Amino acid sequence: MNNNRVVVVTGAAAGIGLGIAERFAQDGHPTVMIDVQEDLLEQESKRLQAAGANVLACRADVANRAEIETAYSAARSRFGPISIVIPNAGIANFIPFLSMKIEDWQRVIDINLTGVFHTVQAAVPDMIEAKWGRIVTISSQAGQSGGPQQAHYSASKGGVIGMTKALARELAPHGITVNTVPPSLVDTPQARRSEAVGEFPLEMIVQMIPISRPGQPSEIASACAFLASDEASYVTGQVLGVNGGMYM
Ligand SMILES: NC(=O)c1ccc[n+]([C@@H]2O[C@H](COP(=O)([O-])OP(=O)(O)OC[C@H]3O[C@@H](n4cnc5c(N)ncnc54)[C@H](O)[C@@H]3O)[C@@H](O)[C@H]2O)c1
Repeated sequence: MNNNRVVVVTGAAAGIGLGIAERFAQDGHPTVMIDVQEDLLEQESKRLQAAGANVLACRADVANRAEIETAYSAARSRFGPISIVIPNAGIANFIPFLSMKIEDWQRVIDINLTGVFHTVQAAVPDMIEAKWGRIVTISSQAGQSGGPQQAHYSASKGGVIGMTKALARELAPHGITVNTVPPSLVDTPQARRSEAVGEFPLEMIVQMIPISRPGQPSEIASACAFLASDEASYVTGQVLGVNGGMYM
């Protein structure tokens, strides 16, 4: 396995993204951690560095192309070309459809869908040049089966799944694979926030999961590590549910 490949993970200060960054860094990859939460990002990247990881923390909003380009310039200066991108940053909330304002809709689409567009498009030239690349998007079960009071979120994640398949076809001739991991329930700050405001009772959701517990960020990270490896050279355009069997 080639552990020198440069990895970008967005939404890397917390939750699933932090788990993914931690996994790639532990595997020896130079890892670029991108997030909007500057203080938390600093704290977590320092923690990983103290454990010997080769990580670079960049504050950037995935919905802002200029900020992503600036982060990628810093990443290339420090580590070289980008080989693996894991667009994970996302937001979620629950709003009944008839109460949903266009601003609510637009913000979720801007971050969850257009953010993936920016994060991926800005890195693909490096992969084409290298004739090798891996893109693993983090979508959601909501994009597969729909979530009530989540028309905006479900649309954004369904969009990510469609984009993943389109790019898998378009980029295959360049040696780039593109796959998506749609989690269902993962124990993260986001899931806990939703539970705290009564949007998302974890116990109720757990009853719908054959493996009867929420997933852990490290379990999503394991799938990403496989899909980003040489072992997965013939896997592209796939939707790899890491969801305890909640959606089959
Ligand atoms: N936790 C779950 O149960 C679950 C289920 C399905 C899908 N997902 C998806 O997994 C991804 C991670 O979710 P999580 O539960 O870890 O969320 P989280 O809120 O716990 O962590 C998300 C991280 O992304 C960052 N972020 C948010 N907006 C950003 C932006 N515009 N630019 C850069 N960084 C930004 C946040 O600051 C945070 O650090 C999301 O795309 C989410 O939709 C999560």
